[in-house]
Amino acid sequence: MKPHGLFCPNVISFVSSLLFLFRGAALAPENHENFLKCLSLQSDTISKVIYTQNNSSYSSVLKSSIQNLVFSAPTNQKPLFIITPFHVSEIQAAIKCSKKSGLQIRVRSGGHDLEGLSSISDVPFIIVDLINFSEISVDAEAKTAWVQSGATVGQLNYRIAEKSQNLLAFPVGTCPGVGVGGHFSGGGYGALLRKYGVAADHIVDAHMIDAKGRFLNRESMGEDLFWAIRGGGGPSFGIIISWKIELVDVPSTVTVFAIPRTLEQNATKLLHKWQYIADRVHEDLFISPFLYRANSTMVCLFTSLFLGGVDRLLPLMQESFPELGLTQEDCREMSFIESVVYINGFEIRESVNANILIDDRFIKRFFKGKADYVIEPIPKEAFEGLYDLFYEEDPRTYGLLVFFPYGGKMSEISESEIPFPHRAGNRYTLLYYAEWQDATNEASQRHKNMLNKLFNYMNPYVTKNPRTAYINYRDLDIGTNNKLGDTSVQEASVWGKKYFKNNFYRLVHVKTMVDPENFFRNEQSIPPFNLLKDEL
Ligand SMILES: Cc1cc2nc3c(=O)[nH]c(=O)nc-3n(C[C@H](O)[C@H](O)[C@H](O)COP(=O)(O)OP(=O)(O)OC[C@H]3O[C@@H](n4cnc5c(N)ncnc54)[C@H](O)[C@@H]3O)c2cc1C
Ligand SMILES: *[C@@H]1O[C@H](CO)[C@@H](O)[C@H](O)[C@H]1NC(C)=O
Ligand SMILES: *[C@@H]1O[C@H](CO)[C@@H](O)[C@H](O)[C@H]1NC(C)=O
Ligand SMILES: *[C@@H]1O[C@H](CO)[C@@H](O)[C@H](O)[C@H]1NC(C)=O
Ligand SMILES: *[C@@H]1O[C@H](CO)[C@@H](O)[C@H](O)[C@H]1NC(C)=O
Ligand SMILES: *[C@@H]1O[C@H](CO)[C@@H](O)[C@H](O)[C@H]1NC(C)=O
Repeated sequence: MKPHGLFCPNVISFVSSLLFLFRGAALAPENHENFLKCLSLQSDTISKVIYTQNNSSYSSVLKSSIQNLVFSAPTNQKPLFIITPFHVSEIQAAIKCSKKSGLQIRVRSGGHDLEGLSSISDVPFIIVDLINFSEISVDAEAKTAWVQSGATVGQLNYRIAEKSQNLLAFPVGTCPGVGVGGHFSGGGYGALLRKYGVAADHIVDAHMIDAKGRFLNRESMGEDLFWAIRGGGGPSFGIIISWKIELVDVPSTVTVFAIPRTLEQNATKLLHKWQYIADRVHEDLFISPFLYRANSTMVCLFTSLFLGGVDRLLPLMQESFPELGLTQEDCREMSFIESVVYINGFEIRESVNANILIDDRFIKRFFKGKADYVIEPIPKEAFEGLYDLFYEEDPRTYGLLVFFPYGGKMSEISESEIPFPHRAGNRYTLLYYAEWQDATNEASQRHKNMLNKLFNYMNPYVTKNPRTAYINYRDLDIGTNNKLGDTSVQEASVWGKKYFKNNFYRLVHVKTMVDPENFFRNEQSIPPFNLLKDEL
């Protein structure tokens, strides 16, 4: 199986035939009624957007945004209600009434959370699904846009290109179906990161509802909270409705290539060399290798986006990475928006139309990911040991490593500018990814075991104390809060410092100010400081 895009594997077509059984959390019937009554008192329009478990559309609305089929399984707890608001007042009502009834809220934008935290919970809960908060308004002259959280990054890319004749863009991830709400609040990046940093670096205002149900903008939320929601993870702080972003320039012509090299074609040597140049070459050049097994050999697929024409790219490659042997024939020139589509599937499409980026939601499957950061180049022998782990696997097990180069703009922004802390010093990030199409426990275990084996093997070669991670590649294996969600700051710092380094403590400070009762919480939410549990 070949990888299908920069971590947007969208080729596998698999129709889920899972039986969808309800396992609703227990809540006394009178509490149901109280909750619904409370909602109708708070908002006149809300009854039109509440899906109870009795509603014939409940199951399809619930499943529609669960991107990882692991979390559609019948054994997962289901929300008591799903609310798909059109109005701010409906979100405010959902918060106030959930609090009153002791229900937890899971906010969902695009539903890509790798651990399913936007759709499942172990305690009685509701989902506020922002699927219909998806407006995008682009002001090409001012080079800004307002985008609502329920929009996808594909829709955003498309609208920006359309309104700017392909001359403006936004540094988002490469998978078009990813939701703006989760993506921006965790950082968010793709092939523009060396040139422009992460999505959250370009947010200049936001609208959100806090735990008290207040509507806030940048001015009224204050700089601490505004800092926290740009990379600290949304769900600890409230429901972010929309974001004002500053758009970035892209040239009218960009160049892409995707070159596979097997071990026989010196893949190891090339990958080894890549480590020395990828974060130092010109920031217009982004080269991201994918490493996977192909029968009895390994393949390293060198994929690239260059912000310019092929005539400028070839000499740059000749100077910094001649071993790859890039030729004019390997390269394709296109507009930036075409490259977004290309990178998503490594295929040339006749034309980029709205359908590809707007409606082409990604095909669901089972998956799991993990992430690492690398500071020092990994020796060749270490790669060879890694291949052995791939060869040991059952050939049906599908997994790959994606190497994402940093450097450029990423090294110019300080670690504490926003909560996303992975800046200067990081050569690249490694993404471990496995996917499968078979709903059995055996398949799921086999794939997870493979990732764990790869991850354990890499321990000597990646960041230490802490072994850093990226919140948007959420991984509950690195530590979680306790079941009640009232973990101490000390306990949460185990996983918190991996995602945020020392920014974790400022996030705790913000959380303590804006949500001292810890209403917005999940398995990896920032805890408020608590005098009983946390020593001064
Ligand atoms: C196929 C795939 C490809 C990916 N590619 C990339 C990539 O190229 N680059 C990259 O950086 N990341 C990538 N990611 C990771 C992605 O950025 C995160 O999973 C992101 O959090 C998804 O956002 P979402 O809105 O789709 O998910 P959701 O599951 O809806 O949300 C994720 C988390 O944020 C919370 N949340 C969502 N909306 C809000 C809101 N409005 N207010 C407050 N909290 C909110 C949710 O409760 C949940 O905890 C990818 C993930 C997948 C599955
Ligand atoms: C289901 O919920 C939606 C949204 O509230 C509502 O419009 C619809 O009438 C409900 N359908 C049934 C069968 O209850
Ligand atoms: C669902 O329907 C059952 C039986 O018709 C009823 O007893 C129950 O109260 C309903 N639940 C909700 C949440 O409307
Ligand atoms: C979102 O809005 C559209 C258009 O109004 C509507 O058809 C759709 O049912 C809504 N989705 C949900 C889940 O409420
Ligand atoms: C592999 O590298 C060697 C030199 O190190 C070179 O002679 C050989 O041609 C390369 N093979 C391929 C297929 O590029
Ligand atoms: C593995 O071998 C099979 C059969 O020869 C072939 O169809 C398939 O494409 C190969 N897989 C890869 C990833 O090269």
